[in-house]
Amino acid sequence: MKAVILVGGLGTRLRPLTCNTPKPMIPLVNQPFIVHVLENLRNQGIDEVILCVQYLADRFREALGDGSVLGLKIHVIEEPEPLGTAGAVKNVEHMLDGSTFVFNGDVLTDLDLRAMLAFHRERGSKLTIALTPVEDPTAYGLVEMDETGHIRRFMEKPRVDEITSNLINAGTYIIEPELFRYVPPKQHYMFERGLFPVVLQTRDPMYGYPSPAYWTDIGTPSAYLEVHHDILVGKVRYRFHGKEIGNRVWLVGDADIHPRAQVIGPVVIGPGVKIGAGAQIIGPTVIGAGCVIGAQARIEGAVLWENNQIAEGVALRSCVVGSHNQIGARTHITDGAVVGDSCIIEADNRLERGIRIWPETHLKERSISF
Ligand code: GDD
Ligand code: MG
Repeated sequence: MKAVILVGGLGTRLRPLTCNTPKPMIPLVNQPFIVHVLENLRNQGIDEVILCVQYLADRFREALGDGSVLGLKIHVIEEPEPLGTAGAVKNVEHMLDGSTFVFNGDVLTDLDLRAMLAFHRERGSKLTIALTPVEDPTAYGLVEMDETGHIRRFMEKPRVDEITSNLINAGTYIIEPELFRYVPPKQHYMFERGLFPVVLQTRDPMYGYPSPAYWTDIGTPSAYLEVHHDILVGKVRYRFHGKEIGNRVWLVGDADIHPRAQVIGPVVIGPGVKIGAGAQIIGPTVIGAGCVIGAQARIEGAVLWENNQIAEGVALRSCVVGSHNQIGARTHITDGAVVGDSCIIEADNRLERGIRIWPETHLKERSISF
């Protein structure tokens, strides 16, 4: 069966992590997010995937090739200009045959695709939308159904006074290609604000498929951190690469851990990592390939990408650090702070409370403190 994945968005809310890397390519526990998504689709019986991209198409082609390494057939299709979610799929309509899965490319979920397809077929649905409960639907597409699951209303980004349910569009659809007759060709057109409301005016049945399965949109730094914590504590199905050396500590390759360093799982340590004397690495934490952690540093609940140099006495807590950064001695990066790539943060800085440091920033000693 075929699937289309929408990976065209700019990922602005995840900046600075997406300044140099398209959102679906940012690492999820040391491998590109999209690779995890693709492995999950393959494990659930999908054999051919069309990736609808808007920019940096070559990054996808380099990383995924024709998909054979992953046991899939992958096509990377670049849009001439942003076509919107439905316009992007219309653009590849000629490649579709029969019921097709469509996925938002920034969602991590354990949704059972086979069960959803069975539901779609039993109902004779033309378009089935997976639904997930959330506390605050205002950042999502709100779905209202009748008791049979027939969708009656779809409201993208509802206002607080419009909220009538906690079930939102989980960003997975099964669609019958005939519905693309409603989508205008070669122009920007959304599922959420275009096709769904249009189909509701027709006789073509549209169903909601609620699921309690794990679900998160990785669209913001705090969601990105939370997803890592969820994976590491086992809330979501995830196949760890590397070997577990006990105490829920996974080594992805060789690492040089000082005998007086302390590693308390769940922690994933990438290849070539060095951890100095007296350093403490406390889970849930991911240390990317080639990172060097100085003596007495303390890293807790953090995600580090590749090749970071962390000096002695640094404290990293509940933060994300991109690639190729130098973090000077005794600097603290905490409480949702995010550092982009290739920054030099000199000694004794305090980066806290969701601060975002853009790539290639150079911060002198003691230039930020709260
Ligand atoms: N190819 C392509 N072209 N892809 C696009 C385009 C486009 O013009 N616009 C957006 N996308 C992709 C994004 O890359 C992302 O994977 C997906 O479509 C959804 O876009 P987001 O920008 O992440 O939307 P959202 O998170 O605000 O809302 C959407 O997802 C929610 C669930 O996470 C909506 O579908 C909501 O209804 C839904 O609840
Ligand atoms: Mg999103």
